[in-house]
Formats: sequence, C-alpha cells, structure tokens
Amino acid sequence: MFRTLVRRCVQTQCKRLSKLSDLSHVERRSLSANASTTGGNSKPETVEDMLKLWFKRFSDAQVYEPLESIANILASTLNSNKIATVYQERDRKLSTVEMKNIIEMCKKRLQRMPIQYVIGQWDFRELTLKLRPPVFIPRPETEILVELALNDIKSRDVTCILEPCCGSGAISLALLNLLPGLKAVACDKSSKACELTEENASDLKLSGRLEVQQCAIGDIELKNKFDLIISNPPYVLSKDMMDLQAEILLFEDLEALDGGLDGLDVVRDILGVATTYLNRSGKLFLEVDPSHPELIANLLTGSPSLGLKFERSHKDFNGVARFVEIIKT
Ligand SMILES: C[S@@+](CC[C@H](N)C(=O)[O-])C[C@H]1O[C@@H](n2cnc3c(N)ncnc32)[C@H](O)[C@@H]1O
Repeated sequence: MFRTLVRRCVQTQCKRLSKLSDLSHVERRSLSANASTTGGNSKPETVEDMLKLWFKRFSDAQVYEPLESIANILASTLNSNKIATVYQERDRKLSTVEMKNIIEMCKKRLQRMPIQYVIGQWDFRELTLKLRPPVFIPRPETEILVELALNDIKSRDVTCILEPCCGSGAISLALLNLLPGLKAVACDKSSKACELTEENASDLKLSGRLEVQQCAIGDIELKNKFDLIISNPPYVLSKDMMDLQAEILLFEDLEALDGGLDGLDVVRDILGVATTYLNRSGKLFLEVDPSHPELIANLLTGSPSLGLKFERSHKDFNGVARFVEIIKT
C-alpha cells in the first residue's frame, strides 16, 4: 500500500507527498494497518523500515500528517526535497549517522515542531526557502497572491515593488526570481525575519535586486514611490488565535499572525503606506481574513482622502475570498 501511494504521488509529479486527507478512508485504514504490522520488532535498517516505524509512532502520538512528516524527514536525510527519492531509495540501508539524524528530527516532530522547521526548508512556488523558528512558514494559498501580482505586473510597466511584512522573503523572492527586470523593497518588524529574508535572497542570488528594511510598516521611510505593493500581513482576529493548531502556537511568532481585535491593525498601516507610496494607478494586493474584503471596501469608500479604490476580491483554494486588489486613484 505504501508503494502504491508513493508511486501515485510520483506519477502526479508532486514535489512533496500528497496530503493524507486526499486519500479515501479505505486507503488511510489500510496504510495504517500495513504500517503497524511491518513497523514492529525487527531492527530498522532501511529507508522503508524507518518510514513504517515512524509513521506508526507519529500516528500513535497523533502527530498531524504522520506520513508526510516521516516522508519529508527521510527525503531530507537523502538530500532531496522530492518524496520520489524516498520511494526510489526505499531499500537503501541507512548509516548509523543517518539513523541518528532521522531520530533527532523525529523527536522534534514528536514535540510538534512543524515539519518545515524540522527539515529547515520548504518549497514556495519555484523556490526552496530556508526556514527556522519563529519566522512565519509561507502557506500554499500565498502562492495565489503571488500569481495575482504576477499577472498584474505582466500587464503593465512595473519596475519596483514594496512588500511590507516579508517574513522569510517568500513573496518578494518568488516575484524577483520570475521577473529579472524587477526590483523590490521588503520590510518586517522582526529582525529574525529580516535576517532570513536576506539569507534566502543571498542563497538564491537575488540580493542585488532586493533591499530589506527592519521596521514596523507604519514607521517606514522610503525614497521612491512604487508601482505595486503586496503583502501577507498578520490578519488573524485576536479572538481566533487560540483556535490555531498547536504546531503554530508553540513554534511560530504569534506577532506574525495576530492582526488585533478585527484583524486589520497592520492592514490599516499598509493602507496608509499605499496612500503615500503607491504611484497613481498602482495596485495593492493583500492576503486577508474572509471577513475583511467587505470591511476594507467599506473603509475605503468611507475614506476618500486615502485615494484608494477597492477593485475586487479573489478566492483561495477553498473558494473563500482571501485576497483583495486595490488601486491608487
Ligand atoms: C503572516 S506573516 C507573512 C510572512 C510572509 N510574507 C509570508 O507570506 O510568508 C506576517 C509578517 O509580518 C511581520 N509583522 C507583523 N507586524 C508587522 C508590522 N507592524 N510591520 C512590519 N512587519 C510586521 C511579522 O514579523 C511576520 O513576519
């Protein structure tokens, strides 16, 4: 069953293992049964032995996404970011050092450290980014935000963008990587986030086109205006913070998520910056909570002095309004 699952993932060219939630109940049940019968008493030696053993241990400890967790740990040990490698090398005997490293990583995962921090990297669009706690882990839906900006940038003359709240640098770096003529200024109030953005930019050879400023977006001082501003700011309503997964609450910087009472504390600062620093007809793209598009539309209609017009909202993978597009008038 394990082979069938991994082969299917390889066939669909997934970079990472597909989510267990994509599987049927029958598939999930038989995978667990298979792992529990073969992950038993004999001393684990091979990649497949460790996969089965730790799938069972993670499942027993109710670690979220147990199969993805051990598959990614093994892929990382095999110096790959492709789950296909785990399948291809399933019969390979692991060295003592490799075994020790795998167990160290698995212990961290048992403590609920997100898998992205455990292996120290994750894919975002075309890039593999370094990640470490407590800097926010880029989420898959933010790839849609990048796509929205990309389409806009390609439709007009955009030379320089601003990214408030850059975290690991995912958004700016994804755009710079795809658009060789583009320059970006990114800011974050966290020094750890700024350091990681600079490190990722350097690893990806994009430092020459990215300026990083450590400051709260409300305090930023800039020399130029911009054609486009893009941001995934903290937008979770404070009352919803405690509903977040244990992994997030234990390891990620909560200031990266908490957007205050109505979730709009930092968004309001970004709107102020857009008023000052967006060129006429320039666009602002934001990722927000589904309750926000209507609130932001009303806020802009009621504050004409901001010179910003709500254009439209865009949906995420779940069909929920997650992104807003705003134009400078
Ligand atoms: C949701 S994370 C997004 C990170 C990154 N853009 C991404 O999508 O992966 C928000 C980021 O905003 C930063 N932040 C929070 N409040 C801020 C503020 N007032 N000014 C600038 N950055 C802020 C946090 O440190 C965090 O890195």
